[in-house]
Amino acid sequence: MRFAVIGAGGHAKVVIATLQAAGHTVTGLYDDRKTIGESVAGIPVLGAVPAAVESGLPTVIAVGSNAARRRIATSLPGVEWGVAIHPQAVMHPSVRLGAGTVVFAGTVLQPDTIVGDHVIVNTGASIDHDCRIGDFVHVAPGCRLAGDVTIGAGTLMGICSFAIPGARIGSWATVGAGAGVLSSVPDGRTVVGVPARERG
Ligand SMILES: CC(C)(COP(=O)(O)OP(=O)(O)OC[C@H]1O[C@@H](n2cnc3c(N)ncnc32)[C@H](O)[C@@H]1OP(=O)(O)O)[C@@H](O)C(=O)NCCC(=O)NCCS
Repeated sequence: MRFAVIGAGGHAKVVIATLQAAGHTVTGLYDDRKTIGESVAGIPVLGAVPAAVESGLPTVIAVGSNAARRRIATSLPGVEWGVAIHPQAVMHPSVRLGAGTVVFAGTVLQPDTIVGDHVIVNTGASIDHDCRIGDFVHVAPGCRLAGDVTIGAGTLMGICSFAIPGARIGSWATVGAGAGVLSSVPDGRTVVGVPARERG
């Protein structure tokens, strides 16, 4: 299948690699900060973000910022959002993925987990059974989510962070690199350490 990709930075390289590993073709990139004619991973920049609509292709937003992905997704209502799943992701058939979500190499998603729209399940992350992952979440590389974890929209689970069974993490929160959530995190808060707490 042919895809368009919005974004032409480092994260886009991994999205492109994921789509290609799954047997897809990326025809072009759309990025406001690049010039037409530049290329990333051999794929040409064809225009600014709004021009992605003209491709008529399933499109993935390859932008690491959760807020920026939301802004782009809401500004382009006419686009068909595609999903990128690396063939070396292990995903139980009962897992549900929303539109525009990317699942990178080495990830494991266990039964009855539901992942929202435009989520990044980054390299080597694992999400166990019955988790609920909101739209625009980023589950960073090496993150470990136990069973029955809930994460609200827009939250960043930092690299190698973890959450124990039943943890509740709010929306637009940041769980720092290596932090361990043992109970809950309120909306919009940044927590670090084990157990994860707001910095004093
Ligand atoms: C938590 C985080 C958001 C804080 O960022 P910040 O507000 O810019 O914080 P600073 O770098 O200014 O650090 C402030 C203090 O918090 C400490 N701190 C920062 N991140 C920490 C972490 N993950 N765990 C423990 N302490 C941390 C710093 O050591 C510093 O301590 P000090 O005041 O005693 O010197 C960030 O450090 C982080 O962990 N981001 C995750 C990034 C990530 O995983 N992205 C995914 C990429 S794919």
